[in-house]
Amino acid sequence: MKKKVLIVGGGGREHAIAWKLAQSPKVGEIVCAPGNAGIAELARCEDVSAEDTEAVAALAASEAPDLVVIGPETPLANGLTDRIEAQGIPVFGPNEKCARLEASKSFTKRFLERHGIPTARYRAFTDREELEANIGIYGFPVALKADGLAAGKGVVIAESEEEALRAVRDMMEERVFGAAGDKVIAEEYLRGAEASVLCFADGSAIVPMESAQDYKRIFDEDRGPNTGGMGTYSPSLLFDASLEAQIEERILRPTFEGFRADGLDFKGVLFIGLMITDDGPKVIEFNNRFGDPETQSVLCRLDTDLLDIFVAVTENRLSTQEIKWNDDRAVCVVMASDGYPGAYEKGKIIRGLDEVDDDALVFHAGTKFGPGGEILTAGGRVLGVTAVGKTHDEARQKAYNNVRKITFEGARYRTDIGVVYRR
Ligand code: AMP
Ligand code: GLY
Repeated sequence: MKKKVLIVGGGGREHAIAWKLAQSPKVGEIVCAPGNAGIAELARCEDVSAEDTEAVAALAASEAPDLVVIGPETPLANGLTDRIEAQGIPVFGPNEKCARLEASKSFTKRFLERHGIPTARYRAFTDREELEANIGIYGFPVALKADGLAAGKGVVIAESEEEALRAVRDMMEERVFGAAGDKVIAEEYLRGAEASVLCFADGSAIVPMESAQDYKRIFDEDRGPNTGGMGTYSPSLLFDASLEAQIEERILRPTFEGFRADGLDFKGVLFIGLMITDDGPKVIEFNNRFGDPETQSVLCRLDTDLLDIFVAVTENRLSTQEIKWNDDRAVCVVMASDGYPGAYEKGKIIRGLDEVDDDALVFHAGTKFGPGGEILTAGGRVLGVTAVGKTHDEARQKAYNNVRKITFEGARYRTDIGVVYRR
């Protein structure tokens, strides 16, 4: 019997997941809530918001899928997994308790500390005056972080005392991140190169995927504010066998043991944000889902049937599941709306999608159909133009050749995705 899968979410990550699942001979039908104009080519999209827990749970009850895959962090933090599992449907994505690893930075810092996992020194504050009085404890720059979820924007790297005090005021008084900023973490600034490691994780193993490199800042040369991610490539050129061994030894193993010791029944993707410092890799953050746009460049390199991996995780059999990657290189360049990560306009007609090369992948992030069936922009990040090649340069060139074929009013993209920087 072929399987029916419900994917929750509607961004580039979910498009990439749907694309990979659609290749599985075992998958019969994909339903997506809410999906987007690109996902609609692979799945039946239902107009249900991923953040409306009750509505998604009701959809799961009526669709009765064999598996639910939850893409974004907010429904995970809202306990959607627990809600759907209670209906007897297996879910790929951690439960509410484990989702705190992303939903609360102080929860993660305490976890890291308790299990001796390398990370930046920090202190958490709920009292604004106390934080202001301690603003210089780690010198400057300092990393100031809203404790809760803030769509990847809740971190300010303040270069001076003045900038730090302004960030504290924004978070704790103006409440620009809402309740997420009621608690703020002040953290020692780490120098080095950043890298992301996405891992499949369950109660039997934590298995890293191929490495990926994200570009978080909006402008070339890592300038401007942080975004959800403006592009990625895989594998990361920063990785080698020695670094991988250090990550395994100092981070993955104690994290796995920590999950056991703390009764964290994690099932899904553990995404580790790392700073590769002179003292070795240190954890900047945990996320509990596939990265977006890391997923776009990583899943292109997966040879194993993704459904098999998802099912193995939900059944706690990851340690015996074969996972094969190919040696291709992949590059994903995000095309965004002018103004992102701040305010931007939507509803611009996207042209040129028919002209991209047959072997390029255009993952839709924020798109929808217009009244005449045309494809319109509907988000800050609009498309993730992805290409694979035998070499890094080939993948990069192919991705950019295709980016240049696509136009919409106010389209913005970085021209340096794939270039390696060191701080
Ligand atoms: P996060 O949302 O925790 O990943 O933080 C967003 C970005 O802020 C990271 O990708 C880093 O570029 C930067 N960042 C966070 N914490 C630190 C730190 N302790 N030292 C240096 N940079 C940091
Ligand atoms: N690209 C970073 C993230 O998904 O959080």
